[in-house]
Amino acid sequence: MANESVGRTFLVAFLVCFVCSLLVSGTAAGLRAKKERDALLAQYRNVLAVANLMDREADVTALWQERITPRLVELATGAYSDAVDPVAYDQRRAASDPQKNRVIPAEQDLADIKTRARFAPVYLVRADGEIGQVVLPVHGKGLWSTLYGYIALAPDLKTVTGFGFYEHGETPGLGGEVDNPRWKSQWVGKQVLDAEGNPRIEVRKGRVDPASPAARFQVDGLSGATMTSRGVTNLLRYWLGADGFGPYLERMRAEGLHG
Ligand SMILES: Cc1cc2nc3c(=O)[nH]c(=O)nc-3n(C[C@H](O)[C@H](O)[C@H](O)COP(=O)(O)O)c2cc1C
Repeated sequence: MANESVGRTFLVAFLVCFVCSLLVSGTAAGLRAKKERDALLAQYRNVLAVANLMDREADVTALWQERITPRLVELATGAYSDAVDPVAYDQRRAASDPQKNRVIPAEQDLADIKTRARFAPVYLVRADGEIGQVVLPVHGKGLWSTLYGYIALAPDLKTVTGFGFYEHGETPGLGGEVDNPRWKSQWVGKQVLDAEGNPRIEVRKGRVDPASPAARFQVDGLSGATMTSRGVTNLLRYWLGADGFGPYLERMRAEGLHG
């Protein structure tokens, strides 16, 4: 074949494309394991941070293995399930799978999420063998985005020990102030449920009056971000209520918090 022929040109182009595609797919396949490992480590870090156990120096995997027992909960009954590995379980994917989700009736959909997975992971945090906290995943709509986070509760299952979002798309400086450590620190010690076990926690508009009897259920609003603040109240009330972790919390109160 002559060097300048059409056939030669196509052959060279084909070979270049073939080699490049091998390189790209090889790199993607090689990086997949690393991506999965990074996602797992991020999950470990997010849970440990809400439980106030994150330490820059610490070996995250060792800390996780020593302190955290992940379990999967069937939300409708509140019972533990061994159906799947709770760490590998993809709650977001399950929420959009008709085989694995529940469509939330509009009048119950406080978090504005339309569907939820039937199972959810919970993370029991141990200190000297005893369970000192339980971390629950929560999510729901703010103004612009769905906020994803965790709330950590004391063994009484109503006192907050930590709260925070690890993913959202709210405006920095407005709704994005959900990440402000000063705002987050207010949550510690707040009560999420009333005496009957109903969700009572509220991000108020404005500041909490510390003299008010309701102050223990309230957190300051985010200024200029009423919609995000309302979203946080609503998503917590949904996830701590009857269609969320309510049956689990009730069961654990009856049985005593266990893994
Ligand atoms: C560019 C832009 C970004 C905004 N981002 C947010 C936000 O992230 N969260 C929020 O609740 N309100 C946000 N707002 C404000 C809302 O539009 C709305 O005015 C506000 O929620 C009312 O709250 P306020 O009563 O505290 O002012 C934004 C407004 C503008 C113009």
